[in-house]
Amino acid sequence: MSDITNDLGAYNIYDLRKIALKRMPKFLFEFVDRGCEDEIALRNNRAALDRVKLHPRMLVDVATRSQETTLFGNKQSMPIAIAPTGAAGLMWYQGEIALARAAKAAGIPLALSTASITSMEKVAEHAGGRLWFQLYMWKERSMSHQLVKRAHAAGYEALIVTVDSVIHPNREYNKHNGYTRPFTFNRKNVTDVITHPGWLFNVLARYMLTTGMPRFENMPEEMKTNILRDKTLDKNQSLCWDDLKALRDMWPGKLMVKGILNAQDAVMAADCGADAVIVSNHGGRNLDSARATIDVLPEVVDAVGHRMTVMIDSGFRRGSDVVKALALGAKTVLIGRSTLYGTAVAGQEGAARAIDIFRDEIDRILVQVGCRSVSELNREHIRIEK
Ligand SMILES: Cc1cc2nc3c(=O)[nH]c(=O)nc-3n(C[C@H](O)[C@H](O)[C@H](O)COP(=O)(O)O)c2cc1C
Repeated sequence: MSDITNDLGAYNIYDLRKIALKRMPKFLFEFVDRGCEDEIALRNNRAALDRVKLHPRMLVDVATRSQETTLFGNKQSMPIAIAPTGAAGLMWYQGEIALARAAKAAGIPLALSTASITSMEKVAEHAGGRLWFQLYMWKERSMSHQLVKRAHAAGYEALIVTVDSVIHPNREYNKHNGYTRPFTFNRKNVTDVITHPGWLFNVLARYMLTTGMPRFENMPEEMKTNILRDKTLDKNQSLCWDDLKALRDMWPGKLMVKGILNAQDAVMAADCGADAVIVSNHGGRNLDSARATIDVLPEVVDAVGHRMTVMIDSGFRRGSDVVKALALGAKTVLIGRSTLYGTAVAGQEGAARAIDIFRDEIDRILVQVGCRSVSELNREHIRIEK
C-alpha cells in the first residue's frame, strides 16, 4: 500500500473521498461526486447493492486464492477496470496518465474518455498498458469516426461506445456552482479556487505554465476548446443501431456498448456484433429514475451472458460490491469515482491506493464466502433481501 495515503489515513474509498473533498474546489468535487436532479439514482445504486447479501459457505480450504480473470482472452490481475471519466485530468496534473500508470502497474485496463484533458496519444505514449477508448458520438459523425481511427493508430485494444448520454443531463448543482460552459466566474467560485491552493498550484497552475488552460485534447483541432470556453459539442441524438453496426465495421478490436439498462438492448448489441455490454446508469449522473445496475444485471446476464461479456458499473465502493456483481454474472466491474478520489488525493499513488483497497477487500470477502477464485462465485453466493 502506498505511504502517502497511509499517512493520510485512507483505509477505504470513503476516506479517500473525504480527503479529496478537502483538496478540491467545491465546484469540481461536486461535478465528480454528485448525481443529477434529486440524486435518487445515485442513492439507489448504493441501496440496491446494500440489499444484496452474500450467502457464504464455510469449511472450504481458501488458504490459496486468486483474483485473476480472463477478459477478451487476456489475463487480468483482478476483476475491475477503470471507467472512462472526463474529469480525471482535473483531479491531478495529467491525471489520466497518473490513472493509466496505476492501472498498468495493477494489471487492469483503463478506459480513456472522449472528454479527457490529456490526448489519447499522450496517454498511450506516457503510460501504455491495456487501454480502452470511450467514444461519444457527436452530431457530426465523421468527427467521432476520426477518433476511432486515432484510437486504433494509438494502439487502444478496445472501443467503448457510450449510448446513455445523447442529451446533457440535468445537474443543477453545476449551475449553482457556475460550472457551466462557458464557465461563469462569480465571487463564490473564485474564492473556492483561491481557498484550495493545493489544487490551484499543483493542477491548474501547472497546466497554465506548460500547455495553457486545460483543453479537451481529443477534440479535432478546430474544435479544441478549453474548459472555460463556450463551445460544447452536441452529442448525436440520432445515434442508433446502424451507428453501432458502422462502428463494428470500422473497429477491428473489441467493441463494448456502455449504458445498457435493458436486456433487449443487450440482445440487440450482441446482434450488431458487440463483444461486451456495460450495464451502467453513468453512476447515477444522467437519468435520475434509472434502475440500479445491480438490479438490471441478472436480466442482462440471462439474456446475453452465453454470447457476450457482461460488465457493470455505478456505485461500486467496496470489494463486497464487486464480489456481488461477479456472483450475479458480471465479468468485470468498472470503477469511476473511487479511483478519481484517489487521483485527486495523490495522483498515481492515490489511484493505486484505491485499487489496492478494492484488491484487499475482494480478497477478504473471497475468504469469507468460501471461494478460492473469483471464477468460483455464482448465484448460490447471493441472496437478495426484499
Ligand atoms: C466525473 C465523471 C465523469 C465521467 N465522464 C464520463 C465520460 O466521459 N464518458 C463515459 O462514458 N462515462 C463517464 N462517466 C461515467 C463513468 O464511466 C461510470 O459509468 C461511472 O462513474 C460509474 O459509477 P461510479 O462513479 O459510482 O463508480 C463519468 C463519471 C464521472 C463521475
